[in-house]
Amino acid sequence: MSSAPNAVPMVDLRKQYHDLKQDIDQSLSDVLENTQFILGSNVKAFESECAEYLGVKHAIGCANGTDALHLAMLALKLGPGDEVITTPFTFIATAEAIAYVGATPVFVDIDPHTYNLAVDQVEAALTPKTKAIVPVHIFGMPCDMAPLVSLSQKHNLHIIEDCAQSFGATSNNAQTGSLGDIGCFSFFPSKNLGAFGDGGMVTTNSDELAADLRMYRAHGSKERYVHSVVGYNSRLDEMQAAILRQKLPHIDRYNQERRRVAARYNEQLADLPVQLPLLEAPASETASVPVFHQYTLISDYRKPIQAALQDANIASAVYYPIPLHKQVAIQNEMTSTPSCPIAESHSERCVSLPIFPELHNDTVDRIAGVVRQAINNA
Ligand SMILES: Cc1ncc(COP(=O)(O)O)c(C=O)c1O
Repeated sequence: MSSAPNAVPMVDLRKQYHDLKQDIDQSLSDVLENTQFILGSNVKAFESECAEYLGVKHAIGCANGTDALHLAMLALKLGPGDEVITTPFTFIATAEAIAYVGATPVFVDIDPHTYNLAVDQVEAALTPKTKAIVPVHIFGMPCDMAPLVSLSQKHNLHIIEDCAQSFGATSNNAQTGSLGDIGCFSFFPSKNLGAFGDGGMVTTNSDELAADLRMYRAHGSKERYVHSVVGYNSRLDEMQAAILRQKLPHIDRYNQERRRVAARYNEQLADLPVQLPLLEAPASETASVPVFHQYTLISDYRKPIQAALQDANIASAVYYPIPLHKQVAIQNEMTSTPSCPIAESHSERCVSLPIFPELHNDTVDRIAGVVRQAINNA
């Protein structure tokens, strides 16, 4: 008698925990014993291990990826009257951080194939008020940074990279998070490098920005109990740092496995009438290595695909159903209406399939088979 195939989640965090269980349990038990719960030795060590891995001078832990973006805006002194250009095809946190400091988000459409900010449209969106650009390396595909960096130099703009989904991805052999003024990472549990709770990190090569980032994350204080600005309580938790230190040495292997899954999906789905994600940046862009935080198709058959997957007990998700310039919360912060037809059309047609390092090829084939069947039957 054959049993029904197992349910497939979008991400299976238990497998990764079991893989590293002994080391993680030991590191947590060490924290409990030494009781250095706030900004202890693990946070310090993780900051320097991350800085080394990412090839940056400073890596500064904070409470989550949203705070990382907020701290970056504060350190760069962005505020009311400043315009910040970003993509509408991202998680809301990217634009929330702009709003937190009172700056104005300005949206530029996306490239249809990379799903990233259409960098060739950024210059046309510049005004005398533009102060910064926030590229998001969406789904782990590095945004085309070289032209953005030249543009920022030409117009004296800051670049804040949103690397929440791109830990370990490279552009021209350099890590995302090392290419702009400040890089912002999230260690949300399902991220490529995920904690067992919230966590975040800001990276920079500037000593001055690093000092200000550290000040803002610690109640605006550079010296204990001396406060020059109103800051925040946004520290990376010691337990999370202990867990992340155990996972960091494996990140390249995890990301390689994600690329294996993505390549397998693309192979299996190649002949179907769907747009597949790129396995590398297009030839016209800076060479890059993506890390497939998500595996996302663009298809007119989203509804039947999701229904068939659900019937087969396979998860799927829509990242993101509403582009940010159509979100009421963000519309309240905007001063002009952007034209973003690609982001709008992708939001209506995107669908993400399960992807995680431990997903076996035979399960990928089974999922692809359900997608094929759904399209054939539609
Ligand atoms: C693109 C992007 N930016 C920012 C964030 C915010 O990170 P966090 O959830 O750690 O606050 C996320 C996380 O979901 C994200 O995907």
